[in-house]
Amino acid sequence: MEKLQLPATLPDLLLPWFRANARDMPWRGARDPYAIWLSEIMLQQTRVEAVRAYYVRFLEALPTVRALAEADDETLFKLWEGLGYYTRARNLKKAARKIVDEHGGTFPNTFEKIAALPGVGPYTAGAVASIAFELPTPAVDGNVLRVVSRLAELEASTDAPAVRRAVTEALGAVFPRECRGDFTQALMELGATVCVPNGAPLCRACPVRTICGAGRNGTAERYPIRDAKRARRAEARTVLLLSCNGKTALRKRTEKGLLLGLWELPNCTGALGKEEAFELAASFGAQPQA
Ligand code: ADE
Repeated sequence: MEKLQLPATLPDLLLPWFRANARDMPWRGARDPYAIWLSEIMLQQTRVEAVRAYYVRFLEALPTVRALAEADDETLFKLWEGLGYYTRARNLKKAARKIVDEHGGTFPNTFEKIAALPGVGPYTAGAVASIAFELPTPAVDGNVLRVVSRLAELEASTDAPAVRRAVTEALGAVFPRECRGDFTQALMELGATVCVPNGAPLCRACPVRTICGAGRNGTAERYPIRDAKRARRAEARTVLLLSCNGKTALRKRTEKGLLLGLWELPNCTGALGKEEAFELAASFGAQPQA
């Protein structure tokens, strides 16, 4: 894709709006890179409302990188329980250990070093580097891609890595001299509250409407252009609810990947009939009565 250029006035329009309209979040105003990193990991694929209480409780229990590095897994998973995507919790601790071992317990302060931590991709590294260290490092996720795609009326699919790169580069070129963390969060906030997906964006309330191509042409809902979705795969499973004296049988997941190490009701793929279900229970050493 050819080079993308964004209006240099973007920060001047966005920052005052952000100051007046930013939603209150417990990590906004945080200066500790550890706290900012924690918030960004929790916010991966998770809504702000779901994260609030977890963030506060986690920081109270484990207030420093060292405390996290030394936390036992049970404490860690209890703090994460219900938040989902549990690999994040495992990576959080791995990263804390790395910071202790390789950086003497001080949070690294460059994009490259932050991006080298387990569980930190380019989006999170960009967010932490700009919010915690005021570096001009864009954080480009789906929200930000949508905002830029509408501003510039991007006809290429935002799913293409080349488009993501072009957007990252174009945003990097218009970063303000100061308030870089606020600029990053202002873009996120605009995507979350004004330049929204699914349904009409609130163009009349938008602080950047004067420089927005899609806003001017009334075409916001055409953007972002996406690749065709792959069909969802439906999978049949049989789940056993085995109770005995008020206790229910659980097992720990050992299959690689999804939900590794978490507890679940015994189950298998496929829709089993009654006989087969009893056989499966027997293979676990249970003899169900009915
Ligand atoms: N999503 C990801 N990071 C965020 C942040 N710092 N503020 C609001 N939403 C976010």
